Amino acid sequence: MASTHGAHRILVASNRGPITYEVREDDSLHARRGGGGLVSGLSAIGPDAGALWVCSALGDGDREAVARGVGEDGVRMLAIDAEVHADAYNGIANSVLWFVHHMLYQTPLEPVFDAEFRRRWASYRTYNHAFAEALAEEAAEGASVLVQDYHLCLVPGMLRELRPDLRIGHFSHTPWAPEDYFRMLPDDIRAELLDGMLGADRVAFLTWRWATAFMRCAGETDPERYRVTSPSDTPPAVEHLDGAPPRRTLVGVHGLGADAEFLRERSHRADVEERMAALRAEIGEGRRTVVRVDRTELSKNIVRGLLAYRQLLDEHPEWRERVVHVAFAYPSRQDLAVYRDYTAEVQRVADEINSRYGTPDWTPVVLHVKDDFARSLAAYRLADVALVNPIRDGMNLVAKEVPVVSDEGCVLVLSREAGAYEELGEDAISVNPYDVIGTARALHEALTMQPGERAERTKRLAAAATALPPAQWFLDQLRELEG
Ligand code: G6P
Repeated sequence: MASTHGAHRILVASNRGPITYEVREDDSLHARRGGGGLVSGLSAIGPDAGALWVCSALGDGDREAVARGVGEDGVRMLAIDAEVHADAYNGIANSVLWFVHHMLYQTPLEPVFDAEFRRRWASYRTYNHAFAEALAEEAAEGASVLVQDYHLCLVPGMLRELRPDLRIGHFSHTPWAPEDYFRMLPDDIRAELLDGMLGADRVAFLTWRWATAFMRCAGETDPERYRVTSPSDTPPAVEHLDGAPPRRTLVGVHGLGADAEFLRERSHRADVEERMAALRAEIGEGRRTVVRVDRTELSKNIVRGLLAYRQLLDEHPEWRERVVHVAFAYPSRQDLAVYRDYTAEVQRVADEINSRYGTPDWTPVVLHVKDDFARSLAAYRLADVALVNPIRDGMNLVAKEVPVVSDEGCVLVLSREAGAYEELGEDAISVNPYDVIGTARALHEALTMQPGERAERTKRLAAAATALPPAQWFLDQLRELEG
């Protein structure tokens, strides 16, 4: 019944949307626009394409905006019950799915899939269903829907039930777990997750490593229902054995690159220059810098980065007073105690290094925990070494942004477990993120690299990092889905 369908030809769904609202003291609503790959990707299709972004209200300000009917063209915010959202977002997406895909559990004691888990899972379902219903309502006949990430794994399956006419894609911005790790989830939950995602016509990942892991999980979870085609098939697919008519879900890869044009322009504005001057004063004259910029996610491995830096100062006393570790660890998911504890541990280890080695004239670790984008760009520009050592990471855009913005070339010390490693590994110094001694050695090698080689490598890194700008990343997905 086409008449009951919505008007949008292209729809994007994600938990976090492009805009957030805040209630000011005078009771007015203040809107703030966010950045990121999806925002610049969507802008590539222009305002006339009839696109709609469906997202969730996240804080009180967002809920108030929905209640007052305040919104933006092209964005539909869903005011899902706050407790349901908290259970789904904190309780399942960030505490279970994030942990599984990044392999973060301390397995002697966790995970425990008990009645509380089941209760939260029911909320995850409800939350996914709210998205599926909104998308079903808004989409025009045959429209393309691009569902984002681990928050919304069940949406494709639910949406297909409601609207079999749509072209549905799902994109994972995280790694995907190896099958042995994925098998920790209760069997019915594994199957529900895969059924949800395989409701899509196409699922896509940031690298082949994650795509292959997904196919292995799909192949072993329910062999009666899903058969994975040979990896040499182009494109590979998951065949649905029980469907009539038979259906397949294609599997694809789209690496997301840095937005060179935006970064180069933004990093030369006055506020960045100001932050550079302030940072130089904090660092001190003539010192080298090892820079890291992260959201304080458990997977970013900030603590082992600090331990490696301490090891460097231990093993190579010649670096004392001559290098500073500039570490920006911005708050993330602070509703979760384990994130708050991790942030405190970062602070504790940084303080410990500063009190052990610091001198009246030298602070070995300059740690900032308040998010400041201009200051991040300033640090990118002056970094001698960038430390990007995640335990596991879907891509890691910092690794791609630093070489683009760097003023005089910067050596990239990069974890082999980051998705970006597939594209940047050759010109980076690679590290095993758990090996603190190895990481200290890599830092030393990076700090002593000759300027000529460093500049050459940076040039090649910047070229690789910008090969897939967000606009192309987005348009490629759309084309493949519509194909
Ligand atoms: C990281 C991940 C994304 C994820 C995002 C959510 O950036 O790479 O896959 O969507 O976190 O962050 P949030 O702050 O919304 O929890």
